[in-house]
Amino acid sequence: MITINENYLKLQDSYLFSTIAKKVEEFSKNNLDKKIIKLGIGDVTMPIAPAVIDAIHTAANEMMHKETFRGYGPEQGYAFLREKIAECDYKKRGIDIQVDEIFVSDGAKCDTGNIGEIFGTDNVVAITDPVYPVYLDTNIMAGRAGEYNDKEEQYENIVYLPATAENNFVPELPNKKVDMIYLCLPNNPTGTVLTKDQLAKWVEYAKVNKAIILFDSAYEVFISEENVPHSIYEIEGAKEVAIEFRSLSKTAGFTGVRCAYTVVPKELKAYTKEGKEVEVNKLWNRRQCTKFNGVPYITQRAAEAVYSEEGQKQIKENINYYMENARIILEGLNEAGFEVYGGKNAPYIWLKVPAGYTSWEFFDYLLEKANVVGTPGVGFGKCGEGYFRLTAFGSKENTIEAIERIKKLV
Ligand code: MLT
Repeated sequence: MITINENYLKLQDSYLFSTIAKKVEEFSKNNLDKKIIKLGIGDVTMPIAPAVIDAIHTAANEMMHKETFRGYGPEQGYAFLREKIAECDYKKRGIDIQVDEIFVSDGAKCDTGNIGEIFGTDNVVAITDPVYPVYLDTNIMAGRAGEYNDKEEQYENIVYLPATAENNFVPELPNKKVDMIYLCLPNNPTGTVLTKDQLAKWVEYAKVNKAIILFDSAYEVFISEENVPHSIYEIEGAKEVAIEFRSLSKTAGFTGVRCAYTVVPKELKAYTKEGKEVEVNKLWNRRQCTKFNGVPYITQRAAEAVYSEEGQKQIKENINYYMENARIILEGLNEAGFEVYGGKNAPYIWLKVPAGYTSWEFFDYLLEKANVVGTPGVGFGKCGEGYFRLTAFGSKENTIEAIERIKKLV
């Protein structure tokens, strides 16, 4: 008899963004005359930069000729891209990351989800609350979360680190020993950032407790303030305790192209049950070689072009465009009397829903009355209840229109 991984039965019914998509589809089927503005899932709307498109054409043409055709590439990514990443994302910031510490992939969602495979299922996991749902769901699947406690609305083995208005959305260090800590900074969904000093405390905690920090910096390009680290490796000693995930999805509009990377420093060690040190880089390399075919050559050439002078200029224009949307949302909602957070170093605006509404009730109300889609805060965890997330990734026209519609409602 074939049995299942019963941990899957412990998951909530559906992935947050699929639930939203289903609700919106239903509404739109019954309201064909309504123009729905989607500021829910953080999907980009600006087209790919011309320098990147040129690189795609050139690479596609190479595939046409015997001499330049490419089949399987290295599972870890081509050297031309890994070298660019090491140089532009790290060396320029004074960080020494070696090419063989960089693993090119097709998404930070996949990497943050898959990384757990190389760690024991008995590790204690800490996540912030609210949190990007992938970190929690993949640990439920792996069996690290334990049973769901209906009353607490939490999984029994997960250590939740509340990030609420009371602590300015900066979570406290765990008050018990944990082994795996997920941090997303700038934060999805709240838009919060940490200063170097604040982040240094997490690195210190990880060192003292022999824990690992899984640092998702998919939104680092949106940082506008000084003294906010773009990489956890800006903190001394972080290479001994942290894996960093980066993505071109939001940075360069690659949500449909698919390219990301993960840095696993060689200094980073984890342990066998007997306490023997093991190089995590080797394990991840082994995992990727076995289970991953690498990112397509054409895509990696596209990613390489992001790091060209032209590419950098062009993607910067798109980032500025989105951050102007963030400003429009922040100011508009402020004027309308909402309590708003984020939007300065991140493309997400986190707002308090009006009194008397839950996050999902506000979602329904906004969809019905303003035909605007956002993301209910509770979808990111119980501390997200009473909050709502809007993304700055829409078009400017739609963003302005959405805010006007919301203003009329209150
Ligand atoms: C989000 O809306 O939180 C993100 O777009 C989801 C993702 O990157 O997977």
